[in-house]
Amino acid sequence: TSPFAPRHFLSIADLTPAELTTLIRNASTHKSGLKSGRPLPPHLHHSLLNQTIALTFTKRSTRTRISTEAAVALLQGHPLFLSSQDIQLGVNESLHDTSVVISSMVSAIVARVNGHADVAGLAKHSSVPVINALSDLFHPLQTLADYLTMHEAFATTQTKGDAKTLGLEGLKVAWVGDANNVLFDLAIGAAKLGVHIAVAAPTGYGIPPAIRDLITASAPQGSNFTIHETTIPEEAVKNADVIVTDTWISMGQEEEKAKRLQAFAGFQVTKELARRGGAREGWRFMHCLPRHEEEVSDEVFYAANSLVFQEAENRLWAAVAALEGFVVNKGVIV
Ligand code: CP
Ligand code: NVA
Repeated sequence: TSPFAPRHFLSIADLTPAELTTLIRNASTHKSGLKSGRPLPPHLHHSLLNQTIALTFTKRSTRTRISTEAAVALLQGHPLFLSSQDIQLGVNESLHDTSVVISSMVSAIVARVNGHADVAGLAKHSSVPVINALSDLFHPLQTLADYLTMHEAFATTQTKGDAKTLGLEGLKVAWVGDANNVLFDLAIGAAKLGVHIAVAAPTGYGIPPAIRDLITASAPQGSNFTIHETTIPEEAVKNADVIVTDTWISMGQEEEKAKRLQAFAGFQVTKELARRGGAREGWRFMHCLPRHEEEVSDEVFYAANSLVFQEAENRLWAAVAALEGFVVNKGVIV
């Protein structure tokens, strides 16, 4: 690679633990600053003025599209949303050619793709930073928002100031449902932050071995990180501070719907499940959205202890921090 090769953000695995906490802290700082009426810091204020950021999406999106477009606008850049209906994204033109062409005219590419190889291929041939806006393997912008949300929910006055762990170390997260893209980056983040994770998925829907290896290899030397995998939801939620799930049928899996609904029977997150399994008193619920009732009851989803809408809003602040780190500061995350 040339010394001028851009740094891409395709997965939480691309970050050191210190960079991950820096991005979460920066997201938190920008959120509280702007919400209390202060301007963005000088290095960010007009940082994308006269710059265009391409958002190439091959799948539907509410949160990722809005948060990334809004984040570009906050930095005074121009977001250029391009769906696969609009441009040639590996259809009728090779990904290589498309990537070279798009990157010759914009400052960064935010890409939502099907197979992870598509976003990796885009990055390989792009002369500007590529940010993964969801692939079948990873969803790093979601993970940043999720740990920002946990930081807000769990950091105490003492731990808020702890630059190293942001009050996240030692928390226990239980994932109940499909082991998917959202979980993979969440678990890699857990390994980097010292967050314990337990995953309950039906047989055949657990973490693939290569991803498990990546998760465990993400824990720094001497870390207390643990990962527990089971097929029993009650076992996963034991002592959980946070219970998380996602759809059982990710985009692109629509044809497996009937089979999946059957396989995941008994995996709905309910108050009763949390009680039976022994989740911690005052446990919180998270979900990246979009949500369906089969994976979580209304009672949990709309409860006072549910963090889902705060988590969705935090996508904006995560996107601002990611653009700051990878586009404005060109991959120097400080
Ligand atoms: N959570 C999330 O990525 O949602 P969208 O698919 O609406 O972007
Ligand atoms: N796992 C879901 C996440 C959507 C934000 C999907 O890939 O469709």
